Amino acid sequence: MKIGIDDIGLSVPQHFFALEELAERHGIDPQKYLVGIGQEFMAVPAPDEDIVTLAANAALPLLDDASRASIATVILATESGIDQSKAAGLFVHSLLGLRADCRVVEFKQACYGATAGLQMARALVAQRPHEKVLVIATDIARYEQNSEGECTQGAGAVAMIVAENPRLLELHPHQGRYSLDVSDFWRPNLRSTALVDGKLSIEVYLESLRNAWQSYRADGGLGLEDMSFLCFHQPFTKMAKKAFSVFEAIEPEAAKALGEKAYSTSQLYGKAIGNCYTASLYIALLSLLDNSDEDLTGRNIGLFSYGSGSVGEFFSATVVPGYQAHSRRKAHARMLASRTRLGHEQYSNWFYGDNHPAVADYSTPYVTGGAFRYGGCEGYRRQYESTALSLKMAS
Ligand code: HMG
Repeated sequence: MKIGIDDIGLSVPQHFFALEELAERHGIDPQKYLVGIGQEFMAVPAPDEDIVTLAANAALPLLDDASRASIATVILATESGIDQSKAAGLFVHSLLGLRADCRVVEFKQACYGATAGLQMARALVAQRPHEKVLVIATDIARYEQNSEGECTQGAGAVAMIVAENPRLLELHPHQGRYSLDVSDFWRPNLRSTALVDGKLSIEVYLESLRNAWQSYRADGGLGLEDMSFLCFHQPFTKMAKKAFSVFEAIEPEAAKALGEKAYSTSQLYGKAIGNCYTASLYIALLSLLDNSDEDLTGRNIGLFSYGSGSVGEFFSATVVPGYQAHSRRKAHARMLASRTRLGHEQYSNWFYGDNHPAVADYSTPYVTGGAFRYGGCEGYRRQYESTALSLKMAS
């Protein structure tokens, strides 16, 4: 049975901040961020955007009456959870008008969660091929202001419909997994910003990739020589180059044959958006599918997912004939090109201001022009509005 990604959509905030300006503020050479880190812009959510609005905006274009009727599970993966108990996907399920006969859960394991979601979706579709699963990766990556991590921040969501006989990518059955209890990046409850041991996190990421690759090969996975492209979790796009160097060391001939073009197209969106934790790997995948000028039909793609703490997984997929007809590349290009640049003060207010205070009642200013907005809290209950359906939803 062929199971995989039938449709995939991206959503990013409508504002961004340029890293050149951040470098100026930090009094350092902009080339450190542009070349050394590999980031040009960071996507900045407005006060009335959050992981729920980003998720709903990513999924909305994928839905019509037929897909609404066949989606039986929603898995939302995030590191930026909004409630200790309730799954954020329930707000999304409601905003999107999905059927009530549906299970909705939230997955958490730092940046890795969506890959666990994808594997669970694959298993569910194998069990019940007439049903589809909506997997959404949605995050706002936030570090302390003026910390080393600040330049890697970003925000965005990717929504994927997993189904039998997929129109875009067939997932292979082989899985390479590696888990290790380590404190490289973490966010204790009640903190809105992550804590990180940056250098350690890079070492653990690379160790995880080496081990996950071995596990994937031991599970019967393809050799590197059978792959055309590699998509890596990209907390910043230079990380893809570091990840590729693992293959240059362990599979030198195959890596040489692949060259930098194995991952360079997958870096384009990430450079313009920044880290989106769970969504970053899938943004890399979309970047490749949307921006490659080659026909990718029949090509094998290797994917490495990493979530600090830590879990890594290597898996692979084949691009399905006719995939181009289902591409959303024009909409994604328009979305990125129509964003508004923020100055440092506005960026600072939105990213670090007290826009979502820990009080029972507050409302957010109207900023976003997206189909969904976060209106604030009433008695600690989050309020969402849908301009698409002219509905005001409350929890
Ligand atoms: P840093 O100490 O500010 O940077 O932190 P650096 O001094 O290591 O420099 C970075 C690079 O810029 C170096 O290149 C420099 O040589 C170069 P590299 O050796 O790495 O190839 N450089 C320059 N290049 C050109 N012109 C110049 C110049 N100056 C320096 N003038 C660090 C960097 C990534 C550690 C920091 O940003 C950080 O802590 N980031 C957050 C953590 C992170 O992203 N870790 C990645 C792996 S863990 C992961 O992916 C999981 C995660 O997504 C979370 C989750 O799972 O949920 C983070």
